[in-house]
Amino acid sequence: MADKLKVGVIFGGQSGEHEVSLISATSIINNMDRDKYQPILIGITKEGKWLLYRGDEGLIKDGRWQKFGVPVIFPPDPSYKCLIVQDGTYKSIPVDIMFPVLHGPRGEDGTIQGVFEMAGIPYVGCGVVSSSVGMDKVVSKELFKAHGLPQCDFVGVLKNTYLEDREGVIKNIEDRLGYPCFVKPANMGSSVGISKARNRQQLMEGLDLAGRYDTKIIVEQCIKGREIECSVLGNHQPMASTVGEILPSNEFYDYDAKYRDQGASKLIIPAPLDDEKIDEIRGLAVKAFKILNCSGLARADFFLEEGTQRVLINELNTMPGFTDISMYPKLWEASGISYGELIDRLIQLALEKQKFK
Ligand SMILES: Nc1ncnc2c1ncn2[C@@H]1O[C@H](COP(=O)(O)OP(=O)(O)O)[C@@H](O)[C@H]1O
Ligand SMILES: [Mg+2]
Repeated sequence: MADKLKVGVIFGGQSGEHEVSLISATSIINNMDRDKYQPILIGITKEGKWLLYRGDEGLIKDGRWQKFGVPVIFPPDPSYKCLIVQDGTYKSIPVDIMFPVLHGPRGEDGTIQGVFEMAGIPYVGCGVVSSSVGMDKVVSKELFKAHGLPQCDFVGVLKNTYLEDREGVIKNIEDRLGYPCFVKPANMGSSVGISKARNRQQLMEGLDLAGRYDTKIIVEQCIKGREIECSVLGNHQPMASTVGEILPSNEFYDYDAKYRDQGASKLIIPAPLDDEKIDEIRGLAVKAFKILNCSGLARADFFLEEGTQRVLINELNTMPGFTDISMYPKLWEASGISYGELIDRLIQLALEKQKFK
């Protein structure tokens, strides 16, 4: 049998979604076909240190792995394509492909993808521009708008502009959106820094809060409706899964409803909708994927507006939650692709993309 493909599975990372990444990565490692693939585990600490981990996979999800990790560097020079252990031996560990299982800033935003591009190594998921545009809610919404995708009205605000002209910024938001509205950092995830503003006081508080996480803020018209998600898989001919619905346990799908309330938020797969609506959503998911020129995977999130029944895109996540109970793999499972097969396909798609380049 040919040599197994050495897959660098990268987990942890410096974003607020470090812990989620540990759980996603544990599921991926446990479900990877060991006859074909040899996982090489690389953890990134919250401080940004890269550590090679050769211990028990069961110690990853609660962070105990970190005690046993050995410092390692991954040179961006394409003549290496290996990790170099920093324990005095400078031993090199060859890697064939990278699988970044990192959510949020410095993982899902094109930055680490840029390192892989420099190194000339294939990697799972979206490229630099798709990742960074997918992460930036203002840029992605501008792009969706340019392509006529239905979405809510929004206003992008630079923190600097707000600090210089609070009155003008608030007046503009009130004129264009009114209340209630949603205030978010442009580049975050896991609902961190997001709030709903019902009046001017709350809008100012929301802008201050969002401004703590990013230098760019987005304010959106508040949509009343259901939250529907769809998984997309592929490169040039992406496929859409069936769709799922989120029933948040809180007023909106905030951080607690996502992670703290221990499954109090419910995922319903497939979403109880008629076939026509499901197809409309699947079509829009593929369209959004193509607009951002994604590759490998993305999860498209929508609102189904109450009353009008319009399907509005909320965002495209280029590295969605990947634990074995997460929406992305669950939607594929319901569409006939098991978790293990999904990993296999993602790796193959990354290799195909590299070949195409
Ligand atoms: N314009 C909006 N109208 C109504 N609810 C919203 C709106 N934007 C966000 N939300 C609520 O906030 C949650 C998190 O917002 P989202 O933009 O998806 O941020 P994140 O990238 O952190 O997931 C959504 O799942 C939804 O419950
Ligand atoms: Mg979201």
